[in-house]
Amino acid sequence: MDHPNFFGDYDTLLELVRNRISVRKLKPDPIPDEYVDKILEIGRWAMSGANGQPWEFVVVKDPKIKAELFRVYVEENVDFIYWMEQQRDLKLRHPAYQMTQDAAVEKQRRGQGWSQAPVLIVILGDGRRQWATVQGANTAMMMHLAAASLGLGSQHNTIHIEEPFKKVLGVPPLLTFNLIMPIGYPDVPAKPGVRRPLDDMVHRETYDMSKYMSNEEALRYLYTLREKTVPVYRNSYIGGADKAES
Ligand SMILES: Cc1cc2nc3c(=O)[nH]c(=O)nc-3n(C[C@H](O)[C@H](O)[C@H](O)COP(=O)(O)O)c2cc1C
Repeated sequence: MDHPNFFGDYDTLLELVRNRISVRKLKPDPIPDEYVDKILEIGRWAMSGANGQPWEFVVVKDPKIKAELFRVYVEENVDFIYWMEQQRDLKLRHPAYQMTQDAAVEKQRRGQGWSQAPVLIVILGDGRRQWATVQGANTAMMMHLAAASLGLGSQHNTIHIEEPFKKVLGVPPLLTFNLIMPIGYPDVPAKPGVRRPLDDMVHRETYDMSKYMSNEEALRYLYTLREKTVPVYRNSYIGGADKAES
C-alpha cells in the first residue's frame, strides 16, 4: 500500500535537532524583525492540551526593559535557584551554582548576560484556557528550533519567582510567566548537542530490566552528567571549554 509523505525531509529535521544547542552568549547585533515573526509563527503551531493554545508572547527589544528584566532575574530568580540548589551536594548542583551565593549573584551582576541579546521573547500562559499546566517549554522548543533554522542562537531561562517579572511587563496576575527566551546571533562556536545513546532509553515491547538504573547508578549518572555539563555550560557562555570562567 502506498503511504504518501506530505512533509518530506527527515534528514533536514534531524540535522536541525542535533545541531541546535542552548546558546547563552549572544551578539548584541540586531536581528531582522522578520526572523522574530517567523519564530513566533512556529510557536503558534505548538501542540497544547485540547488545543487550548494558552500561551502569549511578549517581544522585548527596548534596552531599558531588557535591563530591568535581567536585574530582576539576578536579584530574585538567581537567589531562588541558588538556595534551591543548596539542597544538593556541591558537585550535583547546576554548574552555575557550584559556588557561594555571593559569587553566584556577583558573577551574574558583573556581566550584562542576556540583557544584551537583541530580542527577548517572553512566554506567558493563561491557565484558564487549558485544563492543565501550561507547558511553556513545549512551545519554546518549537521556537528554539525555528531560531536555529534561521542561524540564530537562543536560550531558555525558567522563571521561578514570577511576580517581579510580571510587574516589569505589566502582566496580569492570573497569567503565568513561564520563561524568557533571549534570541540573537551566537557569540560562541557551533557545536553539536550531547545526548544519551538511543539504545539506553528505548525498550521494545516490554521494559528491559537490564536498562533499569539502580539508585547507585542513577546517582553516579547525575555526578557524571554534571561533570560533563560544567564544560558544556562554560562553552555555551564564553565560547571555549578550555578557558577559565570569567
Ligand atoms: C524545561 C526546561 C528548563 C530549562 N531551564 C533553563 C534555565 O533556566 N537556564 C538555562 O540556562 N537553561 C535552561 N534550559 C536549557 C537546558 O539546560 C538545556 O536544554 C540542556 O542542558 C541541553 O542542552 P542543549 O539545549 O544545548 O542541547 C532549560 C531547558 C528546559 C527544557
